[in-house]
Amino acid sequence: MIAPSILSADFAHLADEARAVAGADWLHVDVMDAHFVPNLTLGLPVVESLLKATDIPLDCHLMIEDPARWAPPYAEAGAYNVTFHAEATDDPVAVARDIRAAGAKAGLSVKPNTPIEPYLEILRSFDTLLVMSVEPGFGGQSFIAHVLEKARIVRNLVDAGELRLLVEIDGGINTDTIEAAAEAGIDCFVAGSAVYNTADPGAAVEALRRQAAALRTV
Ligand code: DX5
Ligand code: ZN
Repeated sequence: MIAPSILSADFAHLADEARAVAGADWLHVDVMDAHFVPNLTLGLPVVESLLKATDIPLDCHLMIEDPARWAPPYAEAGAYNVTFHAEATDDPVAVARDIRAAGAKAGLSVKPNTPIEPYLEILRSFDTLLVMSVEPGFGGQSFIAHVLEKARIVRNLVDAGELRLLVEIDGGINTDTIEAAAEAGIDCFVAGSAVYNTADPGAAVEALRRQAAALRTV
């Protein structure tokens, strides 16, 4: 699955930018609050407008403090998947429960240097794990390869039937890095600059999908 990140899109024309990637599996929406990360993007009103403008399921990545308070409204609004950061809360299971109760899939995200072992038990409460392969906050950064070890650990647990969730990766995914991520067992690839900083975002999505799919069948 490919999830273009609108962080690299033209924020004044988000409906057009969503149409440009009509074949995408999810549309990745980066919500930043200038506290959890040193950048500010968009919030619930923009997500509500985007939900009316596209049929692509929205994958909301909340890089915010206090997800217990702010995450469930994204689910209530109609986001397909709502991901928040493990580093931002003491009770991720409760937040996941509230997101699911509000009708969305629940995702847990970990920053590049956050170990996954302490969270393996609670991943049963989640539908997605978002492994960050850059420090959250900005698009266009270089891929951090060591995070793939975390993806492999979780992939193995999923393949062994011990967990049921999608493994997603976010940051620095492009035609040079997607194959290593696919080999590590990633299900869903977020790509911002590699999709929107091209002349044809739709074609970029298809090219990434073909490249990843070729490896998964090997
Ligand atoms: C970074 C965001 C990413 C960002 C990825 O904090 O979470 O979703 O858009 O951008 P690229 O694909 O350019 O690294
Ligand atoms: Zn993101």
